[in-house]
Amino acid sequence: MIPLTVNGQARQVDAEPDKPLLWVLREDLNVVGPKFGCGIAVCGACTVHVEGQPVRSCSIAVGDVAGKSVITIEGLAGGESTLHAVQRAWIENQVPQCGYCQPGFIMAAAALLKGKPRPSDQDIDDALNNICRCGTYSAIRRAVHRAAAILGGAL
Ligand code: FES
Ligand code: FES
Repeated sequence: MIPLTVNGQARQVDAEPDKPLLWVLREDLNVVGPKFGCGIAVCGACTVHVEGQPVRSCSIAVGDVAGKSVITIEGLAGGESTLHAVQRAWIENQVPQCGYCQPGFIMAAAALLKGKPRPSDQDIDDALNNICRCGTYSAIRRAVHRAAAILGGAL
């Protein structure tokens, strides 16, 4: 059994230690916000936070996160009736098209803003190097700036 904390809940997983975290989340724990896109750490659709850092969960073994805290899009807001500032900004800017890639972008954006409260466009492009086949990149940039403003105290 491998212990880990997922969205604040202590879990025990009966899985091989080399099983990718993404598949443990989706198959073993029914946490399906993180998406499978490429499986090789390129697209970012599977991004979660491990100990507060953005991680591509398709490419990290569950054994490497034993005893650690994992946050997925389901746990980002910290409560069912609230939204994270990034989620609010995403809705205001109507970012998603098909939506498939969006949990990964949102998790990457939330991590960026923790370290850089006022990111430049270049910071955003560097940190959010995920792939969106619907081409929502410019809306994402606008939404990250809006999320930064919300976190800075704007309504
Ligand atoms: S599925 Fe993990 S980076 Fe693409
Ligand atoms: S919104 Fe469709 S892939 Fe990004």
